[in-house]
Amino acid sequence: MMAFVYLAYLCTLATFHTLVSSSRLAAIPTIPFNASADGGTWPLSSLKSIITDSAYADRVDKSGETNMPPSLHEFGGVFASDVFDVLGIKHLSLPVGPAPQNNSIFLTLSETSSYQYASGELSAEGYELEVTASGVTIRGASPLGVWWGTRSFIQLAVLSGGELPLGKIVDSPGWKIRGMMLDAARHYYPTEFISEICSYMSFFKQNTLQLHLSDNLYNNAKLYSREQSLNLYARFRLWSDASEVKGLNNFQNESYTKEDYTGMQEACAARGVTIIPEIEAPGHALPIVQWKPELGMSDDLSLLNLSHPDTLPTMQTIWGTFLDWFNCKTVHLGADEYTGNVSEYNHFVNQMAGFMRNNGSKSVRIWGTFPPKPEYDNNISKDVSIQHCAIITGQSIPIHSTLIMFLGEFFEDNPLFDYVQNNYSVVNSDDTFYVVNKWSGSYPQKVNVAKTFHGNPATGGPWEPYIFDTKNSTNNPDRSNKNVLGSIAPLWNDFGPNATVYSEAYYAWREGIPALADKQWGGSLLTEEFMNIFPILHSSIPYLWLEDRIESDGPEILRFDQESWAYQHHPRRDDQAGDTWRVKDLSVNDYSALTNCSVTANVTIAFAGECALMTPLLSKGRNYVLTLRLYVHHFEKDATIIEGQKTTLMLTPNITLFASGNYYRLNSTVPLDTWFDLSIIGKDDRTFASIQEVRLGEPFLARADQEFQAILGVNGESLVWAPIAIEAPLTKIWGSDAQWTGEFGGMLLTTDVP
Ligand SMILES: *[C@@H]1O[C@H](CO)[C@@H](O)[C@H](O)[C@H]1NC(C)=O
Ligand SMILES: *[C@@H]1O[C@H](CO)[C@@H](O)[C@H](O)[C@H]1NC(C)=O
Ligand SMILES: *[C@@H]1O[C@H](CO)[C@@H](O)[C@H](O)[C@H]1NC(C)=O
Ligand SMILES: *[C@@H]1O[C@H](CO)[C@@H](O)[C@H](O)[C@H]1NC(C)=O
Ligand SMILES: *[C@@H]1O[C@H](CO)[C@@H](O)[C@H](O)[C@H]1NC(C)=O
Ligand SMILES: *[C@@H]1O[C@H](CO)[C@@H](O)[C@H](O)[C@H]1NC(C)=O
Ligand SMILES: *[C@@H]1O[C@H](CO)[C@@H](O)[C@H](O)[C@H]1NC(C)=O
Ligand SMILES: *[C@@H]1O[C@H](CO)[C@@H](O)[C@H](O)[C@H]1NC(C)=O
Ligand SMILES: *[C@@H]1O[C@H](CO)[C@@H](O)[C@H](O)[C@H]1NC(C)=O
Ligand SMILES: *[C@@H]1O[C@H](CO)[C@@H](O)[C@H](O)[C@H]1NC(C)=O
Ligand SMILES: *[C@@H]1O[C@H](CO)[C@@H](O)[C@H](O)[C@H]1NC(C)=O
Ligand SMILES: *[C@@H]1O[C@H](CO)[C@@H](O)[C@H](O)[C@H]1NC(C)=O
Repeated sequence: MMAFVYLAYLCTLATFHTLVSSSRLAAIPTIPFNASADGGTWPLSSLKSIITDSAYADRVDKSGETNMPPSLHEFGGVFASDVFDVLGIKHLSLPVGPAPQNNSIFLTLSETSSYQYASGELSAEGYELEVTASGVTIRGASPLGVWWGTRSFIQLAVLSGGELPLGKIVDSPGWKIRGMMLDAARHYYPTEFISEICSYMSFFKQNTLQLHLSDNLYNNAKLYSREQSLNLYARFRLWSDASEVKGLNNFQNESYTKEDYTGMQEACAARGVTIIPEIEAPGHALPIVQWKPELGMSDDLSLLNLSHPDTLPTMQTIWGTFLDWFNCKTVHLGADEYTGNVSEYNHFVNQMAGFMRNNGSKSVRIWGTFPPKPEYDNNISKDVSIQHCAIITGQSIPIHSTLIMFLGEFFEDNPLFDYVQNNYSVVNSDDTFYVVNKWSGSYPQKVNVAKTFHGNPATGGPWEPYIFDTKNSTNNPDRSNKNVLGSIAPLWNDFGPNATVYSEAYYAWREGIPALADKQWGGSLLTEEFMNIFPILHSSIPYLWLEDRIESDGPEILRFDQESWAYQHHPRRDDQAGDTWRVKDLSVNDYSALTNCSVTANVTIAFAGECALMTPLLSKGRNYVLTLRLYVHHFEKDATIIEGQKTTLMLTPNITLFASGNYYRLNSTVPLDTWFDLSIIGKDDRTFASIQEVRLGEPFLARADQEFQAILGVNGESLVWAPIAIEAPLTKIWGSDAQWTGEFGGMLLTTDVP
């Protein structure tokens, strides 16, 4: 790992040097830094210990958004594992002690700090980081402040090539809510995916992940019959066995149990990120109406009829069932895009806010929908915070994001005049940074990173969370306005689960998270700096399995051919344990497989009877060629060719990849009773395949001549074909449950993509 770090250093030396002397480090976010007058560095290689100050080791700070804040010692433990994993420093001792030692990192708190957000309010998230000739001290306003300091430490270590410049950082964020929103309703995401996203966000000092947990595909009321609406894709992702909510969720395999949810919250909190749950009502409420059809509005079943006497009690039953799962101080009611009676809507939101306050001591957030108006007989209570998003309500097109953009105008609310000046707290989720996964008639498929660098209409400089209007400064409050809580950028799955595989949500955010995180913190990173340092930092992000990389010396990751088992006719003892033997990987990596299948007279492996072939690999993300040399004698419907951690290659009878709960099929199948190479080719955001008839002993043959595609349904009106980036399955090449018989002639996995 260090070899990489030094390489990174060579690439950025010039930039890094310039930025040290300008009292600011180009990290993500940027870090205010005063180099010591006499220069000098402290070498990471001399690090001996990470010491948690015994005076504060068990200290927790409850002032943040989570109700499960880690102690200083707990944050220290996660930091130490990162230092081991990404900086490659082994043999560290991790004591609790009263003072720094030579070549230690000392984690401690300051009782007297007075860091301020841009609003002037005190922030517990600030920290100091001092590098001296004898080591490093990180002194936080709270354990969370220390945690952000540890992110700076790792970035500094990586960007300096392991020679940390002597000097001092004093740093704190501009806004207290910094993060992203994931639509986990119209697409399920596994718990590991959520935890890994939190780790990614945390590396760039974001602290909030909003999980959108219930929603439906757009209910095209003018097109769909009542029956069709009641069968439209709609999901509520929490799973409880409580009798009160029996029937609300019928899809247990794509749900979060209390244990799952707690695990995600813990994994995220361990890295300083709070999950804010969102359960949508009274709009986007088809999951609830499919459960209790009498609660739907007769003319649009995705809206709750707020004058029905059971509507409010039903929502309180749902929230009452799940409220104690949520270890956070704010929960989100959704309340987006309702087109019914405003007075009833405002009443509903206020009743629900009272319920959360009384039953869980939680505050409530909603999407801005009906700003207060003189003609209303009631308004949303001012203790409900508003997430501003620039959404049109009313007749025409809507679904969170599929709408016509009227350039330069707020088409529903003007957050400055409607909310901020009326003393509502606002989270800025302006649609400038919206992402609609895979395809949209109006929104981009990746965060608009350019706008993060140039989104301030007053200066042409960086966008920041207080900027609601990137074209007209008159619509923006002062930077120090205390009613601006921060910023959350959403990703919407408007076109449902089969549009994307899980990892495509990560790729939609891969550059967007760091670019936004810099501005949400109050950083000043420039486009060119971002281009230079992002790739370097990216290779050192802890806990990053989202890209399914496989370590390999050279492009060839794994190769089995007849030589991998030719020796089986004269096995050595160490190749054999019982009837299980080793299939040798002929690449330099030694990813040998194990099997108990037998070798044929033609020196191939027979796939029949009770046996299996298992590799040590799980899954390979973008940019790979996986070729399998096969002879298929017979297969059943739904035969499994190869299974991996995330995906499965099948014959259904069409060649099919099963990924993220969906089947992606080609228009072809495999030939019988002849040798062929079946290849899956992952090339950037696309996935190809080929079938080539071959003879045993010939080189592997792959051509990208067929493509797996997603077929998206657009509001029941049309279909859109789009590319899809599916991971290669690598773990189990055959098993007695595979539903086919034949022979195996070899396999090649390489990153040399044609
Ligand atoms: C720390 O290092 C200095 C000089 O390098 C040495 O004089 C001192 O004894 C060391 N202190 C400890 C506690 O090892
Ligand atoms: C750097 O030094 C200047 C001048 O002494 C001071 O104003 C500033 O706060 C210092 N910044 C940091 C990060 O220590
Ligand atoms: C809403 O519910 C009320 C009370 O049950 C009922 O009278 C009314 O017709 C419903 N409205 C719609 C639009 O479904
Ligand atoms: C909205 O609901 C309120 C309370 O039920 C009622 O008084 C009012 O007339 C309704 N407004 C409209 C426009 O239907
Ligand atoms: C929840 O809050 C409501 C008031 O909004 C109250 O009537 C109800 O009794 C509370 N329920 C519990 C279990 O505390
Ligand atoms: C609702 O808010 C508007 C705008 O601030 C105000 O004019 C109106 O009086 C408020 N209505 C009520 C009932 O408080
Ligand atoms: C800028 O915003 C102000 C306040 O909303 C508005 O009055 C003005 O017309 C806008 N200017 C332009 C050029 O749109
Ligand atoms: C095995 O070898 C024999 C003899 O060369 C040949 O006839 C047969 O087709 C081979 N079987 C397979 C499956 O390749
Ligand atoms: C969950 O179960 C449904 C119904 O059997 C299936 O279609 C879907 O693929 C499953 N999802 C996953 C992630 O396996
Ligand atoms: C399969 O064939 C249909 C009909 O010809 C075509 O629309 C579709 O794009 C093909 N699918 C693939 C994956 O090639
Ligand atoms: C399977 O492939 C055939 C062509 O071989 C095609 O006609 C059919 O539409 C495909 N089925 C699916 C479900 O894609
Ligand atoms: C994907 O789902 C849509 C509904 O959203 C459906 O119309 C479409 O046929 C599905 N695509 C495939 C390949 O099944």
